[in-house]
Amino acid sequence: ARITLRQLLDHAAEHGYGVPAFNINNMEQGIAIMDAAQAVDAPVIMQASRGARSYAGDIMLARMIDALTEMYPSIPICMHQDHGNNEATCLSAIQHGFTSVMMDGSLKADAKTPADYDYNVTITRRVVDAAHWVGASVEGELGVLGSLEHGSGEQEDGHGAEGALSHDQLLTDPDQAVDFVARTKVDALAIAMGTSHGAYKFTRKPDGDILAMHVIEEIHRRLPSVHLVMHGSSSVPQALQDLFNASGGEMPQTWGVPVEEIVRGIRHGVRKVNIDTDCRLAMTAQFRKVGQANRSEFDPRKFLKPAMDAMRDLCRERFEQFGTAGHA
Ligand code: G3H
Ligand code: 13P
Ligand code: ZN
Repeated sequence: ARITLRQLLDHAAEHGYGVPAFNINNMEQGIAIMDAAQAVDAPVIMQASRGARSYAGDIMLARMIDALTEMYPSIPICMHQDHGNNEATCLSAIQHGFTSVMMDGSLKADAKTPADYDYNVTITRRVVDAAHWVGASVEGELGVLGSLEHGSGEQEDGHGAEGALSHDQLLTDPDQAVDFVARTKVDALAIAMGTSHGAYKFTRKPDGDILAMHVIEEIHRRLPSVHLVMHGSSSVPQALQDLFNASGGEMPQTWGVPVEEIVRGIRHGVRKVNIDTDCRLAMTAQFRKVGQANRSEFDPRKFLKPAMDAMRDLCRERFEQFGTAGHA
């Protein structure tokens, strides 16, 4: 059955668990997520970026979600717009059956340039009003995603290493978070605490200096009933990097967010944990492995099935690690 983000995260908060939000672009990823959820009895958040919507098409995505809902009747599914950039993106997602949207007003509509606070409050509140009229949930974002370790990560500030924003500009300010939630009435709040999107987050295993866990703890102390969201939460497992590289890939050594740090976040109010890169890497490492081991293979299913299985195993592991298992 389809549920909203608010319904799911309220339950997660009551029972002290976190929910991974996996990105979906195609059928194989949808089946991988749902098979994993079914195996461990976990509720699901599936999210589609603007890129996913244009890749698969809104109608295909909508019908896919219908199919998955019908195929896995015992699993609650929240279908969420990842990084909505304006009102039109968010409202058209709801029209296509999404039960939740992210209005990312931390950036201007170009999804690159950091936006000022008033713009963020105004546009987020507009989306919250419209979404709540029709029973959908809204995630807002405050702060700018980007690694605090300069020179690594795909920074949301759009400047890369050179014009990178300072430490304080990147992190979410707890005072501002209190004001933002009161003024926008968001159902969940994405905060910036040193993570960035993509595989290249850190050039060493991150510790307390690069990952600002104290920001999560402080915001949770000030806003104990607000559901927090961690973006850029892929762990970029060494085993997947090794398999990718052993199969002809060329991925420079990199570090993601350790699962134990995410689990620590979950103890301090983090309820939604965004993961895309790990799923991509799990799948494409298998493409390389099959391609390298059998150079005459041309049946796409021979590539896609092991890729699906690898993504399923990764999703299952996260459901277990975040305590989502058993809560469907
Ligand atoms: O926020 C980033 C997600 O990983 C989605 O990425 O825009 O390439 O689909 P995408
Ligand atoms: P990763 O690139 O770390 O998987 O983050 C995904 C994300 O935050 C999607 O919104
Ligand atoms: Zn994100």
